Amino acid sequence: MCGIVGYIGKRDVVSVLLKGLTNLEYRGYDSAGMALQDCGEIKIYKTLGKLVNLKNELENKKSELKHPSSGIGHIRWATHGSPSLVNAHPHTCSCGKLVVVHNGIIENYKELREELIKKGCVFRSQTDTETIAHLVADEYANTKNLEEAVRNSVKKLQGAYAVCVIHKDAPDIIVGARKHAPMLVGIGDGENFIASDTPAIIEYTKRTIYLDDNEIAVISQNSVKVTDINGHEVIKKVETLPWEPVALSKLGFKHFMLKEIYEQSDVIRNLLNGKLYDIDECVKLDEVKIDKEILKNLNKIEIIACGTSLHAALAGKYIIEDFAGISVEVEASSEYIYRKTTTNASTLVIGVSQSGETADTITAIKQAKAKNSHVLIITNRPDSNMARLADSLIPVNAGIEVSVAATKSYTAQLISFYLLAIHLAEIKGSMEKSYLKNIKHELIQLPSKIEEILSNTSNIKECARKYSSYKNFIYIARGINLATAYEGALKLKEISYINATGYPAGELKHGPIAMLDETMPVLSILMPGGITYEKVLSNSEEAKARNAKLIALTSSDDKNIDALFDVVIRIPKISEILSPALTCVPLQLLAYYIAEFLGKDVDQPRNLAKSVTVE
Ligand code: M6R
Repeated sequence: MCGIVGYIGKRDVVSVLLKGLTNLEYRGYDSAGMALQDCGEIKIYKTLGKLVNLKNELENKKSELKHPSSGIGHIRWATHGSPSLVNAHPHTCSCGKLVVVHNGIIENYKELREELIKKGCVFRSQTDTETIAHLVADEYANTKNLEEAVRNSVKKLQGAYAVCVIHKDAPDIIVGARKHAPMLVGIGDGENFIASDTPAIIEYTKRTIYLDDNEIAVISQNSVKVTDINGHEVIKKVETLPWEPVALSKLGFKHFMLKEIYEQSDVIRNLLNGKLYDIDECVKLDEVKIDKEILKNLNKIEIIACGTSLHAALAGKYIIEDFAGISVEVEASSEYIYRKTTTNASTLVIGVSQSGETADTITAIKQAKAKNSHVLIITNRPDSNMARLADSLIPVNAGIEVSVAATKSYTAQLISFYLLAIHLAEIKGSMEKSYLKNIKHELIQLPSKIEEILSNTSNIKECARKYSSYKNFIYIARGINLATAYEGALKLKEISYINATGYPAGELKHGPIAMLDETMPVLSILMPGGITYEKVLSNSEEAKARNAKLIALTSSDDKNIDALFDVVIRIPKISEILSPALTCVPLQLLAYYIAEFLGKDVDQPRNLAKSVTVE
């Protein structure tokens, strides 16, 4: 949450910072702000709400600016203190000479704040961040060295921070520091950048240094220096970013979410490429770096994730248990980290995360590593902190996902689980070869089946139009599509703010059925030929008997349901075990179109941020 960007160099500083913040806006949009070093003065601009307000403010005030030489910018996802102008970053020390932007949470800010108030500091906001500004200024008063002042200050901070600091009296440098929150340096020619994430700098440079916890970076126009918490210089590897700027374009689609939904067939092709060529050959998953003998005897897997990634993990459980016969536990990272787990050296722990930056999942992974488990990370960001913790890494290669609502990364995570499960089954010999051949055949056909769904969405649009005024929805399924029901309901909730809940269909009559009447649409996911089909059909009948409106999501060969359901959405015929890779697509579209009809901000839904970097 929160995005930071800093720039020092010859370009138009305001434009570089605004561009960087635009590409980071998925991290938060409660407020935006910027501090500029402008010919001996520090000028600060802040606005409430989205970045466009800051852009307008700067446009209106551009005559105030002489020639800014560097600056730091911020977009906020509020944690401490409401989203207000006074709480918007940047924050300053009492005299206004030292300015700070921050992502993270300072857990001991109250104690520090009290001490600083006693020393005469004047606090203006309710944020934890302002404490950092006063603390560094206090240290600077003694050291007169900004790098030292930041180092001495961060030693006193508990919690998570990625922080950038500038000082009026040190106009040639920007100092950054991080702990448990992402931060990287972008290296240019006669210019340098510092940011929370790569999209902020991709337009300008691909050369990057990833800071590690407790490191401090000092950037000037022509130099970058990284030191550890004790002041020893650290020689960092310069890495080349894999992304192209075009990845951040909507390419003619109205929203990133729609573009990302339409990218899913290519994402799957990409992911299968090099791993699954031929149905007669074994899946190649060289990324899994565990001895084959150990894999053969593996009897427990734990999967940890949050949100949409957690739903992919749930589908992953069904797939691995079905193909490889290994027992799989799935748990929300935020729960895993607060209980005594039975994870041990013989457990394979899989962390799933689009961003690779989700704080709860990172903490959970660290705990699993401390218990000597082999950690496999499935992520869309091989350049992330989580990826750096991995013993084995499956990059899902979905390309940058900008929309806050995850879509293509979910499908890519699902496909990764199919490949992993087949790989395990092939090592263990747990499945008939002919069965696996059929699965591989179906996997290879998935992209064209997704294209078939996307080529005609009028039925889904019509369903969205019909039901967009309803306030509550229930999604039901059994078996592997339970994950789809949860994910479909989450998509609807997060972008349209409609109350939607996924339930195992068999659970309906154990309570939720009490809510049903003509105001509550029930969406049933049915897979003809699958083991759960008849049961979900009966559960749908039960809902109909309570006057609920019924929507079916089924396959093209389902002939006997039109009479029961008010709307039927069809996908191409597919086996039940593989169906989640298709059933998720109409549900993403249904959520998208409903949100569109309601005029919601599809790509940046309220209260959310794409990377949840605080626990
Ligand atoms: O980056 P991650 O996959 O670790 O993120 C986990 C969740 O925060 C994320 O899936 C969230 O639920 C999305 N908004 C879902 O659309």
